[in-house]
Amino acid sequence: MELTEAMRSQNACRYYKSDPVPNAVFYNAIESARFGPQGGNRQPVRFLIVTDPAKKKQLSEWYNVPWKAYYEAAGSGQDAIEAESGDKKATNITMSNPEKSLADADNFAQHYGEHPAIVLVLADLEDTHPTDTDLGRLSIVGGASVYTIAQNFCLALRDQGVATTFTTLLCMFEKEIKALFNVPENLSVAAAIVAGYPEKGFPKKLFRRPVEEMAFVDSFDKPLTK
Ligand SMILES: Cc1cc2nc3c(=O)[nH]c(=O)nc-3n(C[C@H](O)[C@H](O)[C@H](O)COP(=O)(O)O)c2cc1C
Repeated sequence: MELTEAMRSQNACRYYKSDPVPNAVFYNAIESARFGPQGGNRQPVRFLIVTDPAKKKQLSEWYNVPWKAYYEAAGSGQDAIEAESGDKKATNITMSNPEKSLADADNFAQHYGEHPAIVLVLADLEDTHPTDTDLGRLSIVGGASVYTIAQNFCLALRDQGVATTFTTLLCMFEKEIKALFNVPENLSVAAAIVAGYPEKGFPKKLFRRPVEEMAFVDSFDKPLTK
């Protein structure tokens, strides 16, 4: 499929058909995804594809601990999205219907262990080459050696008609995940990507901030225009 179309329609899919995704499809996706850039070309990323029902059930139980806390603390869908974005106006930029988005995300969470595959993205942090660890704030650079590959993976699946949802709530269960899957000591959990064939197809339009509000030329008071 055409690259721009893939980029514009690779959403967070909340509903999946029960059909399994063949290993060959995952293989093809990783075969292309691995060409993403990484600091020093040190290639820190590993993938673990989870399809075993008992293991997915366990992941679902862990996932729903932080999800339920978040959902219940939020009180209502509207409050939750605003609490996350910190800005009422932001909900209009990012979502057409925040309450429905939250309800869909909750349904997705309740069925987390039933989605066809949960792909754990793992990384050796020693090989992520961060350059911003002495700035007195959270490091962001190290992730750039991991998430470029993860996004490539999602696009390469989209190219093959497979939908995904990028999730990170499971990362807080890294210790338990490593024990369950015999993950080598040097690897950390960077994401869990749910994958499957979409129940409702792919979206025609995703809600995102316009270019003029996110890109500038020479100075932040000069928005990028065509
Ligand atoms: C770093 C990151 C972490 C995310 N974590 C979760 C998560 O734990 N659970 C979840 O339901 N969605 C998660 N998402 C999905 C986002 O909610 C989704 O990408 C965003 O709302 C845009 O959705 P859309 O592409 O369908 O418009 C995550 C996305 C990213 C990029």
